[in-house]
Amino acid sequence: MTRHAKFLKRSVALGAVALAALSLQTGTAGAAGEPTPSSSTPGTKVVGGVPAAQGEFPFMVRLSMGCGGALYRPDIVLTAAHCVDGSGNNTSITATAGVVDLQSSSAIKVKSTKVLQAPGYNGSGKDWALIKLARPVTNLPTLPVTTDGRYDSGDFTVAGWGATREGGGQQRYLRKATVPFVDTPTCQRAYGSAYIPGEEICAGIMSTGGVDTCQGDSGGPMFRKDNNGAWIQVGITSWGDGCARPGKPGVYTRVSTFAKAIATAADQLRR
Ligand code: ARG
Repeated sequence: MTRHAKFLKRSVALGAVALAALSLQTGTAGAAGEPTPSSSTPGTKVVGGVPAAQGEFPFMVRLSMGCGGALYRPDIVLTAAHCVDGSGNNTSITATAGVVDLQSSSAIKVKSTKVLQAPGYNGSGKDWALIKLARPVTNLPTLPVTTDGRYDSGDFTVAGWGATREGGGQQRYLRKATVPFVDTPTCQRAYGSAYIPGEEICAGIMSTGGVDTCQGDSGGPMFRKDNNGAWIQVGITSWGDGCARPGKPGVYTRVSTFAKAIATAADQLRR
């Protein structure tokens, strides 16, 4: 998968951190539900998580380059900028939706038509992108995004088909976990200037680690319940130093910062 400038930049910023550890690498396409048979057990995905129930997170999407995403509109998937190559017409991505089992015969598979990578994305921060689908997926709900910072704290849910441990394989069955918010000073102590507080929000268990997103979960949503009890997206899985290490929280795109830009971009994709 693609290693972007950010990956290198961050490694430089962190000095001695092993290049392989601080990674924005995506999962390896084909490892999970993508045609290649997988010997994965319906057990693990996302580090320290459990399997999600069918229909529990109906807005979850698996992207064929080895990333996650969420339905932002019936025909638009919100994912990470580092999961895509740039902006423009793009019919090479397949989105799989409506199933926890990527190999299910009832999976909804739709091709992309266009990609819009965050304007100004250069590998640091701004890690969001939109993928326009060839047709709307109308029988599934979208995941609303938070438009201000009021939900940028508390306990978050993360989900994905990514690795269940550092260096692990992609998963056939969707997994979920709960990760607590990590405040800005704490995340700055963990990552120094590699962490951009205005554009990123951190989550994880600082003292023990053990629960986190991991390679292949990128682009997927971090979400929580809003004041009406409905799911709302507050983050996009972006990067971390390894996975689930103590003192090294997961870093997520701060969706509240980009909600307006994302809405504008989605309108552009309509035309
Ligand atoms: N960059 C990874 C991906 O593309 C996600 C890494 C998340 N890492 C973490 N420790 N939370 O799938």
